[in-house]
Amino acid sequence: MNIGAVMGGGAALAEAEIAATPALLALEDVGLVYNGRVRALDGIDLAIRRGEIVGLVGESGSGKTTLCKALMGLERVTAGRISLGGQAIDALIDRDALAFRRKAQMLLQDAVASLSPRMRIGRLLEEPLRIHGLDLGEGRARILALLQRLGLPPNTLDKFPHQISGGQARRVAILRALVLNPDIIVADEPTAGLDVSVQGDLLNLMLDLQAEFGLTYLMVSHNLNVVRRVTGRTVVMYLGQIVEEAPTRALFAAPAHPYSAALLSTNPSVDPARRRARTVLKGEIPSVVNPPSGCRFHTRCPQAVARCAREAPALREAGGGRRVRCHFPLATGLAQPPDAA
Ligand SMILES: Nc1ncnc2c1ncn2[C@@H]1O[C@H](COP(=O)(O)OP(=O)(O)O)[C@@H](O)[C@H]1O
Ligand code: SF4
Ligand SMILES: [Mg+2]
Repeated sequence: MNIGAVMGGGAALAEAEIAATPALLALEDVGLVYNGRVRALDGIDLAIRRGEIVGLVGESGSGKTTLCKALMGLERVTAGRISLGGQAIDALIDRDALAFRRKAQMLLQDAVASLSPRMRIGRLLEEPLRIHGLDLGEGRARILALLQRLGLPPNTLDKFPHQISGGQARRVAILRALVLNPDIIVADEPTAGLDVSVQGDLLNLMLDLQAEFGLTYLMVSHNLNVVRRVTGRTVVMYLGQIVEEAPTRALFAAPAHPYSAALLSTNPSVDPARRRARTVLKGEIPSVVNPPSGCRFHTRCPQAVARCAREAPALREAGGGRRVRCHFPLATGLAQPPDAA
């Protein structure tokens, strides 16, 4: 069976096509404050186009999960606007929450925990169809086709979540997200806790599905090798703000923000020639309840000067599709990263 036809999906989009496409998801000056004082997101501007795979990185507490939840409408923003296909998501949710849920699906960190333990997998996969009032016959055919496509044996449907492996549970979670044919999949640490070989299989699968169905992903990962391998663009967050955004190849070849440089220097590079000296950041991560004055990174930045504590840098265009929030960005040198030729 041709799953592309079943899912109504398109072919993968070329990079040039993606660049010319209007934003599928757009965040404009988005802020989110928890309990009136935890400023988890502050001034987030970001556009994601259809067919893109965007990576989101940053230390724990930088606001990655909050950003994912805001995009999914699971947390309401306290400032700015998020839109999907040009329409504000608050309005989309108020008008028809179920229709919005079909368009945006989230893959959670703990796939097994996200699957209800007392339901057989078959029932779990049909549940979204029932909730959304979709044709069960068509839906079941789609589930069977996807099961085969994801390399899961048909008897998986008769099992309970605890009877399948961690890798299979991730596949079931992906299948459950795909059943509704979403526009965008937000994946928060999709490979965390898996064996390296299973991680590789899963990422290949996600890439294949992306190409087959023209999917759009926002992917949070602590594993920088995963981000480097899978994403086209990477967003780096620090204390609720975007500090750098760049094409993934360019960022990994030469980060422009001192925080990105420190973060990437912790990555065991596969290529010794390009291995950078590891920068160990001093001090604790400050709290977003009372973020540092001026540049939020100044308390830990190896190259901070007096101005950094006084003046907050804006997120500025730095050429080549890069934006950087720093008064003194690092020289990225090459107009083209070495491996882009
Ligand atoms: N429900 C919540 N209530 C209050 N504070 C929260 C809540 N969720 C997250 N936070 C705080 O918001 C900040 C960002 O958290 P989070 O988005 O989980 O970061 P990350 O996913 O990058 O680790 C942290 O300071 C965290 O403690
Ligand atoms: S503005 Fe100053 S403190 Fe902030 S990242 Fe740049 S150099 Fe470091
Ligand atoms: Mg998180």
